[in-house]
Amino acid sequence: MKKPLVAAIVAMDQQRLIGKDGALPWHLPEDLKRFRQLTSGHIVVMGRKTWESLPPKVRPLPGRLNVVVSRNPAQLSLPEGVISAASPQSALEVASAAAKPDQKVWVIGGAEIYRATLPMCDEVHLTVVQGAHSGDAWLPEFEGDFSLAHEERGEACSFLTYVRP
Ligand SMILES: NC(=O)c1ccc[n+]([C@@H]2O[C@H](COP(=O)([O-])OP(=O)(O)OC[C@H]3O[C@@H](n4cnc5c(N)ncnc54)[C@H](OP(=O)(O)O)[C@@H]3O)[C@@H](O)[C@H]2O)c1
Repeated sequence: MKKPLVAAIVAMDQQRLIGKDGALPWHLPEDLKRFRQLTSGHIVVMGRKTWESLPPKVRPLPGRLNVVVSRNPAQLSLPEGVISAASPQSALEVASAAAKPDQKVWVIGGAEIYRATLPMCDEVHLTVVQGAHSGDAWLPEFEGDFSLAHEERGEACSFLTYVRP
């Protein structure tokens, strides 16, 4: 069977910051809307800390198969239908095996999971948030291994799509 496309989706500021105290450093409805539009109907892969950062009413993220990565998956108490994986690599394998035709595998963070999986991603959907914020989680550089395919201005951010050259 054809392998599904693996795409990362992430929002960073101009200093590459992505997180603060286990949450997002900003509240950007236009970015949340885009996240929902792009990932709905697909499969999302996330680290245990990002899973825990989701507001209870959208945990698991509705309309998506949720895959959570942890070194101790047996200790997680996940709702029915949510899949756990013991490594980022096995999460991508499980997600790819579960993908139906036309479903993408979306890597949705956080920093540790991006670091481990960006080398395996086919695309990166990057939101660049205006200004500098404070926080404690950053996105590693990946742009050198990708080509910028599309750029779109939002109100308080820009949406960039990177693909493999
Ligand atoms: N701006 C954005 O687009 C965006 C997107 C997502 C998240 N975030 C932010 O990023 C921050 C969280 O990022 P983070 O790096 O602290 O955490 P994370 O990547 O969400 O999760 C880290 C956890 O994943 C598991 N893990 C990591 N590497 C693993 C490996 N090799 N094998 C097995 N399990 C592994 C571990 O879980 P166990 O400890 O259970 O073993 C680890 O503690 C939050 O502030 C969040 O809001 C931002």
